[in-house]
Amino acid sequence: MGYRVLLVGSGGREHALAWKLLQSPLCDHLIAAPGNPGIEALGRGMAEGRVTLSKVGADATAKLVALGKAEKVDLVVCGPEVPLMAGLGDACAEARLRFFGPSRAAAEIEGSKKFAKDLMRKAGIPTAAYGAFSDVAIAEAFIDAQPGNVVVKADGLCAGKGVVVASSREEAKQAVHSMLVDKVFGDAGARLVIEERLVGREVSMMALCDGTRFVLLDSAEDHKAVLDGDRGPNTGGMGAYSPSPLVDKALAESIARTIFAPLVAAMADDGRPFRGLLYGGLMLTKDRGPMVIEWNCRFGDPETQAVLPRMGEDLLPWLLDAASGQLPLRSPDWLPGLAVCVVLAAEGYPGKVRSGDAISGLGGDGQLSGGDGETVVFHAGTKRDRGRLVTNGGRVLGVTANGANLEEARSRAYAGIGRITWPGMHFRKDIGMRGTP
Ligand code: AMP
Ligand code: GLY
Repeated sequence: MGYRVLLVGSGGREHALAWKLLQSPLCDHLIAAPGNPGIEALGRGMAEGRVTLSKVGADATAKLVALGKAEKVDLVVCGPEVPLMAGLGDACAEARLRFFGPSRAAAEIEGSKKFAKDLMRKAGIPTAAYGAFSDVAIAEAFIDAQPGNVVVKADGLCAGKGVVVASSREEAKQAVHSMLVDKVFGDAGARLVIEERLVGREVSMMALCDGTRFVLLDSAEDHKAVLDGDRGPNTGGMGAYSPSPLVDKALAESIARTIFAPLVAAMADDGRPFRGLLYGGLMLTKDRGPMVIEWNCRFGDPETQAVLPRMGEDLLPWLLDAASGQLPLRSPDWLPGLAVCVVLAAEGYPGKVRSGDAISGLGGDGQLSGGDGETVVFHAGTKRDRGRLVTNGGRVLGVTANGANLEEARSRAYAGIGRITWPGMHFRKDIGMRGTP
């Protein structure tokens, strides 16, 4: 039987999910709501006639459910966190639509940093020491009492912007002030988590979960800062590579045992079993091993664009099994070698960006023409304007290449990028170059 899939979202992560799902011989049709030009173009290329774009937006919960019913889909897959926090999973369950993703209650692992920290403390999961505050004076007293630097985090969702990694007590107190008094993040910053600043290298680990069991995907590393050498302000992610050279089999097993297993068990014990994709942002510390920086309740962006191209088997059965609570107890196959995804950003990103610039270098299928078969262009902030492909957001494209090794993957990705341009385009030249300390 062929499956019909509704994919919610419009970024590079969703393009990667669509690209991978449409490779499945089991996938008859994919409806993207709202999707993007890159996803649409899959229906003119590799997935001829098997893609539809809907105008329904990712935040229109009731309309998404109605669309899923009308299109008789067999599975709904949600990319971004906001619809999950708005209860899309619960609404789909009520309408008897099979859903890959957490319930509103389980999405709280990303939606409230205090909830995540409290649960980790209870479950004995290694994470930075912390306190939660809504009072300026108490928060400042906590900062003064810390032996080292702290990180100040708005409790709620802030589209990745609510975190200040402070290098002095003054800077930390300023952050407290801007969140609690000036309310720069509105309600999301009405409560803060202040935690010890950890030192180490960050890796992203993602797991498919079915409520009680989980299966780790291969590791990845994001590159959050806008400039080479991890300098400049943080972004949503300027590139990723997978696997991380730091995560060998023994470390992955230890991360599964000490971090993911207790978290999945604690969520179930708390009456909010986690189904869907659980993303752990981890710090590999020298003396205390891997520790949790944050949890996300959805696929990482741009990690997904580097991880899925290395998955050596069909993704669709895994999502169906996770959504049905029947995840098999084995690991997926991974292709040898490495994948690198480099994000191409619009002028001004991560600040105020300019949109509407014509993108040159891509064919009508949204890809590089005469490609090498190992390079794929994932669309994030693009749109069609009277037939032309133009920029429409901060992160515009992600160019992913597979290679036998880092050099090969990087040279393919950057060779592809050399053929793409628009006014103000910028990207990091050092994705994947952190080495092995
Ligand atoms: P988040 O939005 O929670 O991913 O945080 C953004 C970035 O802040 C992370 O990717 C880390 O680089 C940094 N960060 C967050 N928490 C800590 C911490 N406890 N110690 C050091 N760095 C942190
Ligand atoms: N790349 C980080 C995230 O998806 O949150």
